[in-house]
Amino acid sequence: MTGRFISFEGGDGAGKSTQIRILAARLQASGRTVITTREPGGTPTAETIRRLLLSGIAEPLGVDGEAVLFAAARADHVERVIRPALQRGDWVLCDRFVDSTRVYQGAAGADEALLNALERVAVGTTRPDLTFILDIPASLGLERVRARLVAVGAPPDRFEGEALAQQEKRRQAFLAIAARDPGRCVVIDGTQKEELVAHAIWQALAERLLNEAAA
Ligand code: TMP
Repeated sequence: MTGRFISFEGGDGAGKSTQIRILAARLQASGRTVITTREPGGTPTAETIRRLLLSGIAEPLGVDGEAVLFAAARADHVERVIRPALQRGDWVLCDRFVDSTRVYQGAAGADEALLNALERVAVGTTRPDLTFILDIPASLGLERVRARLVAVGAPPDRFEGEALAQQEKRRQAFLAIAARDPGRCVVIDGTQKEELVAHAIWQALAERLLNEAAA
């Protein structure tokens, strides 16, 4: 069996990590070796860069500077974790990937030529076979994030704390990416119950990547 690379994208609070957990368990139960990972992060160095970015310490660098840091973390992650896993034939489920940079830094005004160059350097030809975009209204995403933060007693991170209008702009940017690249992207209605979202994901994955019935 050959490995596949699947990324999960969407606004904050869209339910990506829950769905990654569910899909990983299902793929493992079907005999596949699966690794789950996230961006920014996935290696010790990239996790350090994650802390810088999410704490807001890097904010004074400006949106282009932050994009450079996201790309540096990504390059390390691709080289040390994602590419070797795919070469071994593992399945890689990644919480966010290049689309998040296009959406978050892109919507914040990062230079497009810079984003193109960073993507080329950090990712090369290691691209997702399939990307699930979990779509929810920005207001619901914010509600979920707030509930989660209250539960753990933590403040919002640099990106979660941004205004509703900015979050809605990101939602539209994810949908635009999906419309431009329907061969790779599947939009899933993230407002549904967890098990229905999981079912829609499995259904789409079976149709596109598995040589077996969707049951
Ligand atoms: P998360 O793990 O909770 O999704 O947090 C990651 C945050 O970083 C999220 O708010 C989106 C943001 N982000 C970017 O702005 N650009 C990127 O390229 C990535 C991967 C994440």
